[in-house]
Amino acid sequence: MTTPPGPEAARRLTLQEIAQAKHDGRPLVMVTAYDFPSGRIAERAGVDLVLVGDSGAMTVLGHSSTVPATMEEMLMLTAAVSRACRRALVIADLPFMSYQVSDEDALRAAGRFLKEAAAQAVKLEGAGPMLARIRALAGAGIPVVAHLGLTPQTATSQGGYRAQGKTAQAALRLLHDAHAAEAAGAFLLVLEAVPAPVAERITRELRIPTIGIGAGAGCDGQVLVFHDLLGLGEGPLPRFVEQYAALGDEAVQAVTRYADDVREQRFPQERHTYAISEEELEHFQRLVEAGSPVGADDEDGVL
Ligand code: KIV
Repeated sequence: MTTPPGPEAARRLTLQEIAQAKHDGRPLVMVTAYDFPSGRIAERAGVDLVLVGDSGAMTVLGHSSTVPATMEEMLMLTAAVSRACRRALVIADLPFMSYQVSDEDALRAAGRFLKEAAAQAVKLEGAGPMLARIRALAGAGIPVVAHLGLTPQTATSQGGYRAQGKTAQAALRLLHDAHAAEAAGAFLLVLEAVPAPVAERITRELRIPTIGIGAGAGCDGQVLVFHDLLGLGEGPLPRFVEQYAALGDEAVQAVTRYADDVREQRFPQERHTYAISEEELEHFQRLVEAGSPVGADDEDGVL
């Protein structure tokens, strides 16, 4: 599943191929993306699943939680990512309060992500009353990803951003919820911040693939937030993040060098500018000095 796509591999992965990966023991790779460039990077790297997470409210919109993400913001981010991905399956996160109130809300919101933003699937958080939403969406033919464990949209009621399923009873509840999400029709389950042995047991018991984030190596696949794995954010990272690059620092250094070059008049140089012939330049200067009006026959150069 992780072969980088060539022209021949640009066909969209199917839900059957995603399911087959679990059966074959091939780890699934998911990453978040929030715009065309991050979508292209994910696609060119050959990841299988691109999640337009509502983490975008934090990573690209600067909020301190995922709660403020709106439908319009998420639709715009998802549409940009969809334009970038041809092989990877694009999953849109349903924003907080776009699906909690009723099945109808969930159907309308999910429908917009598929019709207006060209996503292939949607993700929602939680079990309990949300199982009815999963059932409604799957029943309408909309592929649904469930999300259990730490669910950032309701982190406050979970006591903050903390691991879930750490007691026998809580782990049992998670296992039951996972089974219920599968039975309701989810085709994939994200497990966030769950002890590895608990996630491993859930993964073993379910037929659908699990994707872990802070849930250990026993899941069928892994997801990381784009900005975390590339080192594009600031501040401490959760312990489950592996940072594969420090692009934020590199970008600051590059912009600082640019600013220094402008201030020290090292940029722009001759090669960054456009030429005008001596003849035209002299003509221009004569026109300016004569106070000539702008003629009808002027022509701009091509960039
Ligand atoms: O919004 C998000 O990025 C997510 C992942 C952390 C799974 O839900």
